[in-house]
Amino acid sequence: MLRDVDFARARHVVQLGVGTGCITRALLKELRPDARLLSVELNPVFVEECREEIVDGRLVLRQGCASELPALLAELGMPEIDYVISSLPFAIMDAAMVDRIIAVSADHLAPDGMFVQYQYSLRQRAALERRFREVYVGFALANIPPAYVYECTL
Ligand SMILES: C[S@@+](CC[C@H](N)C(=O)[O-])C[C@H]1O[C@@H](n2cnc3c(N)ncnc32)[C@H](O)[C@@H]1O
Repeated sequence: MLRDVDFARARHVVQLGVGTGCITRALLKELRPDARLLSVELNPVFVEECREEIVDGRLVLRQGCASELPALLAELGMPEIDYVISSLPFAIMDAAMVDRIIAVSADHLAPDGMFVQYQYSLRQRAALERRFREVYVGFALANIPPAYVYECTL
């Protein structure tokens, strides 16, 4: 997921779908000391657990829907985003909601920013290609189960 993230220049990062915090921890391990990470998770149980377990001044963890990203960014005064790292389960989400989340993410990306998403199928490729100029699809064989990793740029 994070292979092509340039941590030297990543100052403002958004994570969508935190779950148990595996990717949150990996991000915080690599991010610059002056970076900010906004992590958004719908499930309040995961949010509570991660709040207890991951204590880091760079992290802002918010319970809510990824589609609320514009309001969250405004509230935090976060400018353009360098990377959006999404673990959202697009395959089982409402198509209109997937489109909305892709749109708000793209709207807030810096011109040289990147939206990264993993999925277990290629079904969401078309939705990503509608909004991003370039969609590169990689394959993480070592993941269990193996997963596609989409890297999308404007
Ligand atoms: C596949 S899991 C993420 C796994 C995560 N990488 C981990 O380390 O545990 C997907 C997560 O997305 C969250 N989610 C689903 N829909 C969401 C939405 N609309 N906004 C924010 N989070 C959402 C789910 O609650 C779930 O925790």
